Amino acid sequence: MTWRTAIGTLAVVLTSIITAFWLINEPARMAEAEEGFEGRSIEAGAALFENNCTRCHGPQGQGLPGLAPGLNTQEMFDGTRVAEVGWAGTLHDFLYSTIAGGRPVPSAGTTYPQRMPTWSQEFGGPLRIDQVRDLTNFVLNWGEAYELGIAPTVQKVVTNPIDPVGTDLSTPVLPNGDAQAGEELTTTLGCVACHVQTDVGPAWLAEADPNGEGIGTRASARIEETNYTGTATNSEQYLRESIVLPDAFVVDGYPPSTMVMTYGETLSKQDLADLIAYLVTLK
Ligand code: HEC
Ligand code: HEC
Repeated sequence: MTWRTAIGTLAVVLTSIITAFWLINEPARMAEAEEGFEGRSIEAGAALFENNCTRCHGPQGQGLPGLAPGLNTQEMFDGTRVAEVGWAGTLHDFLYSTIAGGRPVPSAGTTYPQRMPTWSQEFGGPLRIDQVRDLTNFVLNWGEAYELGIAPTVQKVVTNPIDPVGTDLSTPVLPNGDAQAGEELTTTLGCVACHVQTDVGPAWLAEADPNGEGIGTRASARIEETNYTGTATNSEQYLRESIVLPDAFVVDGYPPSTMVMTYGETLSKQDLADLIAYLVTLK
């Protein structure tokens, strides 16, 4: 064997060893890449959760009084919750579809004043499908801690500290309303799910109304109608009545009790004032 052949043989052997090593490690590398991808998705989901969800579900997903249920709970991850709602698919699909579509109609037994908003652009929400996926991965990630038995005890919130405005139309006297805050509330409280994005309730915006009248204009006309059954004497009172006592007068063509019936018990004076201040601007 010349020294040239010896080196050639050595080179071939070395190359095979390196290739074999590379092949053996490939699945691990793929898994690592996948994990990296999932890790980034969870991170992106965390940021999205912070910006869009914590105001109702709390900073750690533990739920907030009178606003939204806890998501970071034992029951969510041990199968209790999906069984309770009769969901036949996986927890992933339950979370994904709830986040994507929201919950315009409250689940049985819940009295949250606000609806779970629709998030996916597919259904008219603000987020892309990949963002809904990131949020799903982020929520699912809490579950690992429960599976490993190392979940921190996140106190589930059950009490309701809001001082509610009640259903009396003359007291308390409402504070000054802020129309811009009211507009934001119509999204966070889920009013738009029935009044703007769909026609589950009467359209608020003039361009969607058959007579071209926004709710701000219509409110005063309603109390002049001969079939008006409520007790309001001006537009502000009509709006207040429509929100806290929806069945005092049911708009023609809509079934009674479709509107959330508990706003009087769950809205603060300020929230109600802000909502009215906004609605009267929709001429
Ligand atoms: C305006 C308040 C509000 C916001 C903001 C909100 N949610 Fe919700 N969410 C709710 C309410 C209320 C429910 C319970 C609805 C029901 O069951 O009637 C709910 C339910 C859910 C559920 C189902 C829980 C169960 O046990 O059935 C999931 C999952 C969820 N929200 C995820 C999210 C995510 C993720 C975000 C942010 C993108 C978000 N929510 C933002 C109010 C909100
Ligand atoms: C689940 C669907 C639903 C949600 C959510 C909802 N509404 Fe309604 N709303 C209705 C329906 C249906 C009617 C018509 C029947 C009636 O008069 O009660 C109505 C009627 C009204 C009216 C009277 C409209 C008119 O043309 O005279 C006002 C004002 C109103 N809603 C305000 C609100 C506000 C403010 C919110 C959120 C805080 C809200 N609604 C949330 C379904 C809904």
